[in-house]
Order: sequence, then structure tokens, then C-alpha cells
Amino acid sequence: MRVVIAGGHGKIALRLERLLAERGDQVVGLIRNPAQIPDVVVLLSGADAVVFAAGAGPGSGAPRKDSVDRAASVLMADAAGQAGVRRFVQVSAMGAGQPPRPDSDEVWAAYITAKTAAEADLRARDLDWTILRPGGLTDDPATGKIRLAAPPVPRGTVPRADVAAVIAALLDNPGTRHQTLELTGGDSPVAAAVHSLA
Ligand SMILES: NC(=O)c1ccc[n+]([C@@H]2O[C@H](COP(=O)([O-])OP(=O)(O)OC[C@H]3O[C@@H](n4cnc5c(N)ncnc54)[C@H](OP(=O)(O)O)[C@@H]3O)[C@@H](O)[C@H]2O)c1
Repeated sequence: MRVVIAGGHGKIALRLERLLAERGDQVVGLIRNPAQIPDVVVLLSGADAVVFAAGAGPGSGAPRKDSVDRAASVLMADAAGQAGVRRFVQVSAMGAGQPPRPDSDEVWAAYITAKTAAEADLRARDLDWTILRPGGLTDDPATGKIRLAAPPVPRGTVPRADVAAVIAALLDNPGTRHQTLELTGGDSPVAAAVHSLA
């Protein structure tokens, strides 16, 4: 499988790239791409799947939440459509899908608004999308045990290494298309949890 990952130097992306390469997949990580659709389409041509794992990250303000967490995902989905790559896994976040609470700070509200808009954009497309909403991310080692289900899943944390493993399993299970899934640490082995949803 040839997989293109937007946000290719991110913490989840680096773990995912290692997992995919170890099992023999071809991986292209996009880093600070000038985000010109023609350039991206060239890179996507011949790919089997796109993973959107970019994010404005901590320390960024509200405008960057919109330009990266929403607009960059829209750009990647445009490019996937133009390149004929149907499979698209989007890393969103728990909390998306609902308006931010009125007492949220401005940046968090912008982040949740951007993620929610990116999800809505993707759902409206004729692509084989899966939206993955992890809980709070940690750099702990992989546990291999997760809780993965349609919302609502109780809030919790999950190691980035397990998020990467879930994305790899989602790519193996195209029957998970058109689902929005929330992810935290849990008791289910990754492969079994993903397979049961496919
Ligand atoms: N933190 C949490 O607790 C949490 C919870 C749920 C979901 N998430 C989501 O999980 C995803 C990945 O998390 P992570 O920890 O792997 O993130 P990360 O390490 O911050 O990686 C994000 C990546 O996006 C890239 N990026 C930022 N702006 C870009 C731009 N304009 N063009 C191209 N690439 C750009 C960054 O590039 P540079 O390396 O050049 O900066 C970085 O490689 C994000 O979508 C995040 O919103 C996070």
C-alpha cells in the first residue's frame, strides 16, 4: 500500500510511518508543504490512501487552527479527490462534532470549531473517509489496548503510538469507511477493535 501522510513530521505521523514501513508499505510524508494543490496532487497520484495527521499544534493561535486543522484538511481532501485516491483517514479530536462550550478559551474554541468544520467537509465528500477522534495524546509507549467506538466515548488519554497503530489498522480495514470513531486507552487489542467495526 502507498500511503501519503500530511503532517509527515508530526509525532503520530513519525510513529505511523515507522509501523507502515516495517510492514512493507510505501510511505510519503508531507512536511511543510507549500500546499499548492497541483504539487500535492502529483504526490498523491498512485497512492492508495491519505492520512491527515497535521495540526497547528500547541502554542498556535486561533487563525492557525483554522488554516491548518480545517483548511489544510480541506486542501488534502480536494487533492485526494483530484488524484482519485478514495481512502482518507482524518485525525480529528475528541470534542469535535459539538459547539465549543461557552466558557472555552478562544484558542480551544477555534480548535474545536476547525476540527468540526474539517470533519463536516470530509463527510460531504465522495471519498472512503474515516474520522478518528483521539482523546488526549501522550508520548507513553504503545499498550496495544484501546477503546474505539462511535461517539460518545468517555474522555481519556491514549498514547500516540497506539493512535498510529489504530490508523494502520484502519488502512487495513476499508470497511471502517464512513465512520466517525473516538479513541482512548482501553482493554481491546487494536486489530480486534478495528476489525469488529469493519
Ligand atoms: N495533543 C492532543 O492531545 C491531541 C488530541 C487529539 C487529537 N490531536 C490531533 O492529533 C493530530 C496529530 O497530533 P501530533 O501530536 O502528532 O501533532 P504534532 O506532533 O504537533 O504534528 C503536527 C504536524 O503538522 C505539521 N504542520 C503544522 N502546520 C503545518 C502546515 N501549515 N503545513 C504542513 N504541515 C503542518 C507540523 O509540522 P512542523 O513539524 O513543521 O511543525 C507537524 O509535523 C493533530 O491533528 C492534533 O490536532 C491532538
